[in-house]
Amino acid sequence: MLDKLKSIENNALDTLAGAETLEALEQWRIENLSRSSEVMSVFSKMGTLTAEERPLVGQEANKVKQKLEAAFAEKSETLKQEAMQKAISSEKIDVTLPGRPAKKGGLHPATVSLRRILAILGDMGFQAYTSRDVETDEMNFQALNFPPHHPAREMQDSFYIDAPEAGDNPMLLRTHTSPGQIRAMREYSALDPQNPPAIRIALPGMCYRYEQITARSEVQFYQVEGLAVGKNITYGDLKGTLAEFARRMFGEQARVRFRASYFPFTEPSAEMDVECFVCGGKGCPVCKNSGWLEILGSGMVHPVVLQNGGYDPTVYSGFAFGMGPQRQTMLLHKMNDIRYFWGNDIRFLQQF
Ligand code: PHE
Repeated sequence: MLDKLKSIENNALDTLAGAETLEALEQWRIENLSRSSEVMSVFSKMGTLTAEERPLVGQEANKVKQKLEAAFAEKSETLKQEAMQKAISSEKIDVTLPGRPAKKGGLHPATVSLRRILAILGDMGFQAYTSRDVETDEMNFQALNFPPHHPAREMQDSFYIDAPEAGDNPMLLRTHTSPGQIRAMREYSALDPQNPPAIRIALPGMCYRYEQITARSEVQFYQVEGLAVGKNITYGDLKGTLAEFARRMFGEQARVRFRASYFPFTEPSAEMDVECFVCGGKGCPVCKNSGWLEILGSGMVHPVVLQNGGYDPTVYSGFAFGMGPQRQTMLLHKMNDIRYFWGNDIRFLQQF
């Protein structure tokens, strides 16, 4: 029995030396120190021994048990220390490293150009005026002198809204910011119908068209409308104002040209081009070799439109213009696809 105890001890100490992890150590404890372990089973076999053997074996068994317990405690301490050292060296933090810069949010490129245009027009005396996105057919078309069967009024161009109570004045999402001209003129002229005040406003807003989405057209886009109404406003004022706008927007050397055009609500009408700032007018893919970039539509407010707004066309005159901030952003940054604006691709947005 004493020999057996000696071999239990040696075996246990040998396997303990091989336990390298806390899990292996726990396994060792179960095998060598629990109730079902070999040392403990010696105690339960005391009854089979003679009266002389019993105290000797009992003492020896106790010694072995204590030795194993002590060895276990020591090994356990060593392994814990090792684990701690390992954690300290692998998880160390270098407090002298510079911090990671926090990512800053930014304004959307469409918002940036919208604000820039408004700031320039603001400096030139145009006050911001906002109008509604959901319009009536009357404001979006009729009051703006669209002829009864003008193609822009047809379903394929406009998002009409299901509003049965609207009757023969259906509701739609505005297809341009021009209905704001009528709303502004009516609001101003109501202040003093006999002698309405002069108007100089810039009208920003989202516009909507029922179109196929392609690289060149979106169903939703910004416009900025300009409107000046007063006595003695001439076509010269329109040209001077828009040429000055182009210089402030595209640079002091920006040259512009006006091309005769047609809009139902202006007469005469013109589109303004700015000399291509990519090639300096020599011709390149951005200006499609023309040397010019189309920037906006404009014209003298049509007498019928002045009338509809409460301004007597024999006393008052005015000019109006409408431009697309996103189109200007595209030209400035040589963007070839308008869909980037609402694509929400962070790689695109981060460049601004
Ligand atoms: N509303 C016109 C468009 O959407 C632009 C425009 C505005 C033209 C004002 C003339 C005057 O194309």
